[in-house]
Amino acid sequence: MRHVLTLFDLSTSEIEAIFALATTLKKAHASGIREPRFAGHVQALLFEKPSLRTRVSFETAFAHLGGTTMYLGADVGWGQRESPADFARVLTQYVDVVVCRANEHARVEQLAAYASCPVINGLTDRYHPCQALADLFTLLEVHGRLAGLKLAYVGDANNVAHSLAVACAHLQVRFAIAAPADYQFDTAFLELLEEHHPSLDLQVTTNPLEAVRDADGVYTDVWVSMGQEAQRQERIAVLRPYQVNGELMAAAPSRARFMHCLPAHRGEEVTDEVIDGPQSIVVPQAANRMHLQKGLLAWILAQ
Ligand code: CP
Ligand code: NVA
Repeated sequence: MRHVLTLFDLSTSEIEAIFALATTLKKAHASGIREPRFAGHVQALLFEKPSLRTRVSFETAFAHLGGTTMYLGADVGWGQRESPADFARVLTQYVDVVVCRANEHARVEQLAAYASCPVINGLTDRYHPCQALADLFTLLEVHGRLAGLKLAYVGDANNVAHSLAVACAHLQVRFAIAAPADYQFDTAFLELLEEHHPSLDLQVTTNPLEAVRDADGVYTDVWVSMGQEAQRQERIAVLRPYQVNGELMAAAPSRARFMHCLPAHRGEEVTDEVIDGPQSIVVPQAANRMHLQKGLLAWILAQ
């Protein structure tokens, strides 16, 4: 049995196997084939924060594969009505897989520690592995290869940026991050990255123009993530120079595609001109959440 809490939990060849499964299942879906390989299986979505893409793409993916999903929100009382260990032991004996979205990464680790079925991280304050897998899968589709490409992330070095850096390290994609000094990757994350992936070609800069030079993908995310609302004013003030706008995209090669995990705060981290422009792939990128997660579910339930 395996858990996917971060992309450090997977080997590169396992990620490649997940991509291969996702490709097969995406092609089958396009041909109208919805093979019920998980008929009689149940997926629980245990979510502490709101979601559109993650919730709907996992529910839909599992329905296409013949399985059933239950969405568990605040009323199940995770960590409130009983100990987290009792909760985890009981929940995971009923279901085949749990996708969990938690405020704190330690909560997902604790769930997995007591789980008797696989646990998939559907976003925490530190990581968003399913997002990054789908994003690299999308880059592969768009450019036809991954090794040697460059992904430039501009903005807050948040959960999505962490997972993108690890995904790029696995797949030999150069990763550049342009963020203000106080919103860069922290030492703890950089140490983990170096320990697991010493060969990552990582560019850390405070200058967005430097980051997007030679980029094949330009990526941004919100400046105020879920749970950071109290810091909104200061974050917006500091991150303002990191907006992805027409001027910044003009500094990237014309082959560069604009990416965003969504939801976007238009007029903050990205302008309408860019997100609705010809280089933007945000809609097919979101679509690939469903296809990639089918591959991930098929892989994890086969372990
Ligand atoms: N990108 C993403 O995870 O979106 P949701 O928060 O809507 O799930
Ligand atoms: N960084 C964002 C991602 C949302 C999908 C957040 O955590 O709110």
